[in-house]
Amino acid sequence: MRLATLTSGGDCPGLNAVIRAVVRTASSEFGDTVVGYEDGWVGLMEDRRRDLYDDAEIDRILLRGGTILGTGRLHPDKFKAGLGQIKENLADAGIDALIAIGGEGTLKGAQWLADNGIPVIGVPKTIDNDVNATDFTFGFDTAVSVATDAIDRLHTTAESHNRILIVEVMGRHVGWIALHAGMAGGAHYTVIPEEPFDIAEITKAMERRFQMGEKYGIICVAEGALPKEGTMEFTEGDTDQFGHQTFNGVGQVIGDEIKRRTGYDVRTTVLGHIQRGGTPTAYDRVLATRYGVHAARAAHAGKSGQCVALHGEKIELVPLADAVGELKVVPPARYATAKALFG
Ligand code: F6P
Repeated sequence: MRLATLTSGGDCPGLNAVIRAVVRTASSEFGDTVVGYEDGWVGLMEDRRRDLYDDAEIDRILLRGGTILGTGRLHPDKFKAGLGQIKENLADAGIDALIAIGGEGTLKGAQWLADNGIPVIGVPKTIDNDVNATDFTFGFDTAVSVATDAIDRLHTTAESHNRILIVEVMGRHVGWIALHAGMAGGAHYTVIPEEPFDIAEITKAMERRFQMGEKYGIICVAEGALPKEGTMEFTEGDTDQFGHQTFNGVGQVIGDEIKRRTGYDVRTTVLGHIQRGGTPTAYDRVLATRYGVHAARAAHAGKSGQCVALHGEKIELVPLADAVGELKVVPPARYATAKALFG
């Protein structure tokens, strides 16, 4: 058989580990060949591809962040309009099945292709960990490690200067990175999109720390966080050309407001894409590798419209429809657990 793979949407650590595992498994278990399309769906539509060989070069990419295939975004309308071209390109290249590695948007596209007769297996990735139907996406552990390391470092400088330091982490619609990094790093307050914040409550928590003699504070904020309605002025972001929400720096907004209300010295650090770059953690390498092995096996077995997923200790196949219906948000009980440590 001849398999194809591509990486689409925002990059994340572990993509190369999946590609490596797909190529090596396809070759060693079945003698299948693998083609890699460049820059996600865009490369598939433009027929930009190269053969991927089970050689020393592919073996070495396990440690590399990013994706050797490049990634890209495509508006869903353009993607759907290109179905005929996609089918033609896959047929010309002699592809029997496609393995699409990506987040919610990519998996939606994969499902649509499968519904339209193209054999597709999905592999869920995103640092945000917001794909439903899997316990964890790879990339999340690395992002949390980076954010936790940043918080660890902020503690010592905040303490030395008696400052409130705010760290804004990624998390467009969900607060998994903020929740985990905030808890692991001992942040004194964590703000997530699922739980609109009350600026008065955050300020009070910081004031309490200063009154108790702990004259510094760390606040971990997810970029998609919003204030409770009517509690403060706030301008929401816009949407980009792909329909994704953009942001106006909620960490800075919270910092400015705490400073205005208390007079404390407040600074904000935005971690941004640092969380997405660099080498994956051991956990992410293992998860990504397991996903890649199972995706290659599923594609070879002729399965389609399914997605590999982690359930407890096992990697299983789930319908792509289960992975894309709704985002996996932080449940209120998980936030309540984190809240027990605030202040
Ligand atoms: O990968 C998901 C994510 O990291 C979001 O948390 C973030 O809002 C978004 O990607 C930003 O991606 P980009 O800057 O590539 O548009």
